[in-house]
Amino acid sequence: MKKILVIHGPNLNLLGEREPDIYGATTLNDINGGIEALAGEIGVAVECFQSDHEGDIVGKIGKARNIFSAIIINPAAYTHTSVAIRDAIAAAGVPAIEVHLSNIYAREEFRRKSLVAPVCRGQIAGFGAESYLLALRAAARF
Ligand code: DQA
Repeated sequence: MKKILVIHGPNLNLLGEREPDIYGATTLNDINGGIEALAGEIGVAVECFQSDHEGDIVGKIGKARNIFSAIIINPAAYTHTSVAIRDAIAAAGVPAIEVHLSNIYAREEFRRKSLVAPVCRGQIAGFGAESYLLALRAAARF
């Protein structure tokens, strides 16, 4: 069975209480529950991982080769700053999809640039928790 790694970056553990006008009332547990339910339906395995630490995320991506068939990543604020996460994805040999809850192109100027997107197969942004589910359907085909 294909195994897909889902990575949530910094502050996404606070979903539900964090800026609900932007990110909604859904908690990270709810999101992971929805991901697991869809994974069961379409016949893939998922592992969900959250970290506030750039190095932990880099380390997790670095160990993905030969274990995971795809990576779904919401790098959160690191989207806009992290050369290290970008390089880890480029080096991983595992196709990745970048996701965002919000439409990063409709927000502040500094969020409109993703350092990670150029090394991903694609990006899904702006659909709330559904962004992850759309990514999972795409990743299941890799
Ligand atoms: C986010 C968008 C980022 O700009 C922000 O730093 C986040 C969440 C999103 O899912 O919409 O933490 O990645």
